[in-house]
Amino acid sequence: MKIAVLAGDGIGPEVTSEAVRVLDSMDLPGLTLFTGDVGAAAYRAHGHPLPPETLTMAREADAVLFGAVGDPSCDDLPRHLRPEQAVLGLRAELGLFANLRPASMLPGLEDASALRPEIAREIDMLIIRELNGDVYFGEKGTRTLGSGEREGWDRMAYSENEVRRIAHVAFRAAQGRSGRLTSVDKANVLETSQLWRDVVVEVAAEYPDVALDHLYVDNAAMQMVRAPGQFDTIVTGNLFGDILSDQASMCVGSIGLLPSASLGERQSAHGTFGLYEPIHGSAPDIAGQGRANPLAAIFSAAMMLRHSFGREDDARRIEDAVKAALAGGTRGFDLGGSMGTRELADAVLAEM
Ligand code: IPM
Ligand code: MG
Repeated sequence: MKIAVLAGDGIGPEVTSEAVRVLDSMDLPGLTLFTGDVGAAAYRAHGHPLPPETLTMAREADAVLFGAVGDPSCDDLPRHLRPEQAVLGLRAELGLFANLRPASMLPGLEDASALRPEIAREIDMLIIRELNGDVYFGEKGTRTLGSGEREGWDRMAYSENEVRRIAHVAFRAAQGRSGRLTSVDKANVLETSQLWRDVVVEVAAEYPDVALDHLYVDNAAMQMVRAPGQFDTIVTGNLFGDILSDQASMCVGSIGLLPSASLGERQSAHGTFGLYEPIHGSAPDIAGQGRANPLAAIFSAAMMLRHSFGREDDARRIEDAVKAALAGGTRGFDLGGSMGTRELADAVLAEM
């Protein structure tokens, strides 16, 4: 079990080290951890947010446990040197095109949701976000128009193969859940989305047991706060998935709770090679204070055991311990409590 631990910036190191502590406590066979620099930390040490040695370490591992990247002091750097390029580069270089972002109400947290408890209670969804294409990876630039005015531009595009492969992931995931899949696009305005929708419909023919529907992204955003219980599996593009998954986190209660798995085609000995990271960012405002919630990072480690190492029982053991801790009243600052990063992880370890 070779794991590249890339903790990154801000609260990344604090929450990642708690996830590592949980893994270390488990007596996993052959667990070997390597640590590498990414993000602003890597830029400062090596002049690049994703140094070649870090990329090589990630490639040679069975899985990557990732923290967060982003640092306001880098906002004026040229885009290719900004910390965010580290995670975008890893996703692209490692072919991690399928991003799974589960969001479920955890027992006892109904009152923490931004929604009314009776609405929040129903939440149990899996957002599948395409991660290698869309406006994120299109050509981009700024130019000066004839009028002398500046213009920024980013090209949005999806090829049919990019849509097809994420659609297959989504249909298979829906089969393993309740058999309902919602594809989210903006086909009433965007050609990119029309092709997305056409290809998803084509792929649907291979999955007659899955009930497919389509929503425009604006309507999906509204429905997610009006009646989130209607969603089971959602599949969407890179940009819409980025936005909707942040929204989903507040429906569940805190962005400090949601993990993610980024998967591609490459298999490892016991599963699929993947990168695992909380959906939250580096939160520079609370970095270094021991106040960050490590539960999303701990849940991400559980997803890693499930998807990259075929250790479903160990994954459940972690997830059940987090749920039991929360049900027992464990609350960090993000949920109106006063337990710090380490104390929250201690509560999970105690349950384990
Ligand atoms: C996420 C983050 C990233 C993204 C940033 C840090 C580049 O917001 O993983 O959701 O936009 O994908
Ligand atoms: Mg995001």
